[in-house]
Amino acid sequence: RTESGPVSYNERGKFWEVFEYDDVLALASDHETFSSDGSQFVEHPDQMVKGQSVLTTDPPRHRQLRSLVSQAFTPRAIASMAARIAEITHNLLDQVAWQGAMDIIADLSYPLPVIVISEMLGIPSEDRAQFKHWSDQMVVSEYEDLSRDNIEEYNKRVRTIMRQTLDELYDYFRQVLAERRLQPRHDLVSALLAAQIEGESLSEPDILAFCALLLIAGNITTTNLIGNALLCFDEHPEAMEQLHARPDLIPQAIEEVLRYRSPALLVGRYATRPIEIHGQTIPRGQLIIGWLACANFDQVQFPQPERFDIERTLNRHLAFGHGIHFCLGAPLARLEAKIALGILLERFQHIRRERTQSIETIRSVFIMGPKHLPV
Ligand code: HEM
Repeated sequence: RTESGPVSYNERGKFWEVFEYDDVLALASDHETFSSDGSQFVEHPDQMVKGQSVLTTDPPRHRQLRSLVSQAFTPRAIASMAARIAEITHNLLDQVAWQGAMDIIADLSYPLPVIVISEMLGIPSEDRAQFKHWSDQMVVSEYEDLSRDNIEEYNKRVRTIMRQTLDELYDYFRQVLAERRLQPRHDLVSALLAAQIEGESLSEPDILAFCALLLIAGNITTTNLIGNALLCFDEHPEAMEQLHARPDLIPQAIEEVLRYRSPALLVGRYATRPIEIHGQTIPRGQLIIGWLACANFDQVQFPQPERFDIERTLNRHLAFGHGIHFCLGAPLARLEAKIALGILLERFQHIRRERTQSIETIRSVFIMGPKHLPV
């Protein structure tokens, strides 16, 4: 939160920012006032996004797209994957456990969600080094070689990198789609190809946009959730001890991690009309960023927000957003984190962070988590 108050204009980025719980909640959920579809308001000469996914659409299109994909993500559909998630977790830990040391990120929290989503989509999880490269390019924005002094030049270069990445990713999925058209399987890609909205099939760009969203957005955030959880437990050894004794508290502890170290930092919306927030009028068409991570520390909503309390009650955090765009993958992310942390605590009595190295975090405006977490 800046000193200028609860709403401010970011001159360099040319967008507005809100920080308080109620404002971020309204931004995320009032889809009539705040649109997710920037293509109506912003024209990029080098149009980056081909096809539209749930994330970048408003009703009625959003409702149609979401109804097609939501079946694969209902809590019931996800719960049926628990045994496989546990098996993958054990396999990953078996590969490193004998060493007595591991990197939580590289050895567990990165591969686990990638393997799970690859199996759902029906693509080879062995390609995951490639997926990681793409997601790093898309969300991490660690373009260290780029100077931020000239913001316009910087944005242009970032857009170019993103477009190249999307081109590669779309080429990859185009090939998968061609194969599934010939030979459908029991996977999400085949289901998307067969899906119809009011008698019409989804367009290829729309399917590609959705596959890209799943592969990028869902993985890195879940990686961060598991990494952030270990970081929180390491900082609060009493919580780790309590969870060893009471593994039934793990789901509640995960909610507190989501609040305390939110893996996704922000949501963005465009004002569909001039809108007054705290006495400031934001013109139509302007981008507004809602800082989830700040809202989750709002003391009006969360008493003693700086306290990491795994038994916090009424934890209505906004880490998964709110309203019609509420994270589709939340049941999956919660289940993966619950199983991974449960198995880690069950198999290892003493998990200690390797203190010879300082914690290096991902440098990104979108996401938060440790790059490596040797334990
Ligand atoms: C939407 C966070 C995991 C798929 C969102 C939104 C947030 C979020 C904040 C709302 C964006 C907005 O309102 O503009 C997270 C976090 C995760 C996580 C913190 C992990 C801890 C996943 C996973 C998947 C996924 C595992 C899928 C495999 C999606 C999709 C949307 C979404 C498809 C768009 C939903 C819509 O627009 O209707 N996520 N996510 N997410 N998330 Fe997640």
